[in-house]
Amino acid sequence: MDGTLNVSPPKIIQGGMGAGVSWWMLAQAVSKLGQLGVVSGTAIDLILARRLQDGDAGGHIRRALDHFPFPDVAARVWDKYHVVGGKPADQPYKSVPMHSQKPSREIVELCIVANFVEVFLAREGHENPVGINFLEKIQLPHLPSIYGAMLAGVTYILMGAGIPTRIPGVLDRFAHQESATYSIHVSGANNGCETSMVFDPREYLKGSLPELQRPYFLPIIASNALAALMLQKSNGRVDGFVIEGPTAGGHNAPPRGKLHLSESGEPIYGERDIVDYGKIRELGLPFWIAGGYASSQKLREALAVGAAGIQVGTAFAFCEESGMKREYREHLLNESRAGRARVFTDAIASPTGFPFKVAQMENSVSEAGTYQGRNRICDLGYLRETYGKPDGSLGYRCPSEPVDIYLSKGGAVESTVGRKCLCNALMANIGMAQTRKDGYMEQPLITCGDDLAGIARFMRPGGGSYSAADVIAELLS
Ligand SMILES: Cc1cc2nc3c(=O)[nH]c(=O)nc-3n(C[C@H](O)[C@H](O)[C@H](O)COP(=O)(O)O)c2cc1C
Repeated sequence: MDGTLNVSPPKIIQGGMGAGVSWWMLAQAVSKLGQLGVVSGTAIDLILARRLQDGDAGGHIRRALDHFPFPDVAARVWDKYHVVGGKPADQPYKSVPMHSQKPSREIVELCIVANFVEVFLAREGHENPVGINFLEKIQLPHLPSIYGAMLAGVTYILMGAGIPTRIPGVLDRFAHQESATYSIHVSGANNGCETSMVFDPREYLKGSLPELQRPYFLPIIASNALAALMLQKSNGRVDGFVIEGPTAGGHNAPPRGKLHLSESGEPIYGERDIVDYGKIRELGLPFWIAGGYASSQKLREALAVGAAGIQVGTAFAFCEESGMKREYREHLLNESRAGRARVFTDAIASPTGFPFKVAQMENSVSEAGTYQGRNRICDLGYLRETYGKPDGSLGYRCPSEPVDIYLSKGGAVESTVGRKCLCNALMANIGMAQTRKDGYMEQPLITCGDDLAGIARFMRPGGGSYSAADVIAELLS
């Protein structure tokens, strides 16, 4: 896989949707149809642990683990988390160790295995490429995650929410089974702080290591400037871009320049946020356009400006193969059909500081009343910020954790206002809500793009839902 893209580029990329929304079943369905299915690698270690505690219905994880090339590692994960028949609904899920700059062996193993399993299952039953999506901001799990996905033969790695200039070099090193280093962002780092992470496959996997392919790398970005920067500054090959606009689901890039909010509190995008596709084309790499492009008309428009195709999220998030909890999916589809669906771009909910699109839904975190009854807790920690302590050691804090704890770690009180615990909410979105000792059940916070308003257009006549194949047929029509 040296040189430029030598598989024929897909017209449609099914966007990676965390956490667990674009799971292996959706990606498999899309890739089987000859487009690019993308699994989400976000918090996939936690999701695997919870799926195992739910009993591994259908035995899919067991089947994937039987193909993991290092059986002792697979056995440790299975033995630790699998519950025959699933745990009782009112019993909490076990916790998994949090990621850190010096992670425990247990979480590294779980992370390698979980990324392997997700890609392995998405690749079953066909020969077509599969991709995996990560968020650059969630840096601590990057190395074992990428390695696990490569072990399963992932063809594309797509990465948004940040400027991932240091990932191409990691892919090159892993393709040669060499150890890789990744430098993490540390707020207030001082000279004594150790800011790099190292992953040596041989430290975790005993025996001969299989040959690996170097996946193609597609950063997901929102501006010409970032595309050019990626090419100038990357420590290895970039194979193309996904250019994502502010109507897309999930996290959005903030507007360029000073943040201005509308009366309803949503970020205002302006002239400076408009992408010049001519300039992107001049960079000479394939690109896909994302954010409100889920129609045959928009696909044609994208091709006309020189794109290889489009990346689509929301339309797939609500199809039958999506990992979103069925009840929420059906509810929002009905809302869309009835013309009531509303999406709000929340500038402050996400601990990442990026604007985050939220479908308005009763009994969810989007309803302030429901959320205020929740005691703050940070027990998953994917969105924690790493910060430097005066003694040179590292600490981890999240503006959604209990306020006094956040302040004791040097966090600013303003940063805590309006923050939501995305980690727990996103698990609730896919039917894996944590139950607290006091009986509180974590609530969902569904993210999706502005396209939610129109998704009922994919529904089969007389039917209550639609499949990934329906979306693809419509887009290619
Ligand atoms: C439920 C949902 C979750 C998403 N999560 C991610 C994510 O984890 N990483 C990412 O790069 N993009 C994420 N996105 C963005 C999609 O990959 C895609 O680029 C975007 O949705 C395209 O715009 P559209 O929704 O108008 O089709 C998400 C979108 C949705 C709807």
